[in-house]
Amino acid sequence: MNKVLIAGPAEEPLQGRVTIPGDKSISHRAVMLAAMAEGDTHIQGFLSGEDNLATAAVFARMGVRITWHNEARTELTVHGVGLHGLQEPESVLDAGNAGTCARLMVGVLAGQPFHSVLVGDASLHQRPMARVANPVRRMGADIDGRDGGNRLPLAIRGGSLRGIDFEPKVASAQVKSCVLLAGLFADGTTRVREPRPTRDHTERMLPLFGQPVGVEYGWITLKPTGGLTAPSSTVLIPSDSSSAAFFAVAAALVDGSKVALPSVGINPRRDGWCRLLQAMGADLALDNRSEVGSEPVADLVVTGSRLHGVQVPPRDIADTIDEFPLLFAAAALSEGEFLLEGAEELRVKESDRIAVMAAALGAAGARVEELPDGVRITGGSLAGGCSVDACGDHRIAMAMAVAAQRAKAPIAIHNAGAIATSFPSFVSLGQQLGMSLRWQEA
Ligand code: S3P
Repeated sequence: MNKVLIAGPAEEPLQGRVTIPGDKSISHRAVMLAAMAEGDTHIQGFLSGEDNLATAAVFARMGVRITWHNEARTELTVHGVGLHGLQEPESVLDAGNAGTCARLMVGVLAGQPFHSVLVGDASLHQRPMARVANPVRRMGADIDGRDGGNRLPLAIRGGSLRGIDFEPKVASAQVKSCVLLAGLFADGTTRVREPRPTRDHTERMLPLFGQPVGVEYGWITLKPTGGLTAPSSTVLIPSDSSSAAFFAVAAALVDGSKVALPSVGINPRRDGWCRLLQAMGADLALDNRSEVGSEPVADLVVTGSRLHGVQVPPRDIADTIDEFPLLFAAAALSEGEFLLEGAEELRVKESDRIAVMAAALGAAGARVEELPDGVRITGGSLAGGCSVDACGDHRIAMAMAVAAQRAKAPIAIHNAGAIATSFPSFVSLGQQLGMSLRWQEA
């Protein structure tokens, strides 16, 4: 956690082709569904970052066996125990830094007729949980926790759920997925209507395990079929669009660069950053469109170009939610003004991403005005030659490392060890492309 990353400036244009590791969101869901399916599920392209390993460990504590097939832990077989086969854990279930693990597990644990306690790291203990605890309580689960059940640790005793109609106030794939997973265990139909569409990986993956999910008049609808079945073919996980974004933006920012990223997930609920980066003037091509598993993919090719600021349309916010720290970094190095409003959710991510990015970019020499629900950035150059604090947030650390490639002097990024939660090979792959990156012990 306390590691320092020394980044930038890039000494030469970025060049090359690297394969981005598996998608974090999809890896979580693959292990979860496989663990609760009848039979063995073979998974390839799993992201072996700390977040996904936490999800695997949570199921191991409830009696699910996992066979790893390679040292990199990207290929595994999950020996599913069936929908009603999880065992009461002897100790707490630790989600670490992973919001997706914690929130989706609330749905799974709500369906279990036993007691469990869900914990995480200091950052996760600050993040709101009422958004998932409230709906599953309505479905019949007993949940208590700090702050009236809004913060970890949460104590959960589930079982005997009934389906509900649920209209969350926040557009959140984690909330939607939590309720759909609880719906697997419920009597009757569970329906969710979102204020804005969010990533639909859960809805795309459930049918692979024999559980259809429909959409009726805007309601995402799950009528439980009574169990999940391990798919006969391997579950393939595409490269993570959110991780690819770091190298795509770095290439767009450094003059003369050309970087290719093969077979990256381009789910339309995840590709907001591609659209915004193109709107900012980037030369970003999506070639060879095809499918991996139930997800669309394409080869991304990015060439360095001059970028300019944009006003982010509200409809793009949910589709870009994890990439805003990175786009703030790009905006600081673009021409003109970049404006984001209506994105208050950024304040309750792994860190307060509005405040932490405003402080870090400000320290590096950017002109950033913090708004309650976004930022206004006046583009220009970055002096660098400073220390910034990533506050243990992986995406802040990597966004600042990208910004530093175009700074005039190196940036020392403190508390950057959390990069290992989602993209453990970020530094080595970035170095292969020619980014200036090195670890220094704190
Ligand atoms: C995720 C959903 C998003 C995203 C997170 C992963 C998921 O969170 O920020 O990194 O896998 O469902 P919200 O659902 O809270 O927006």
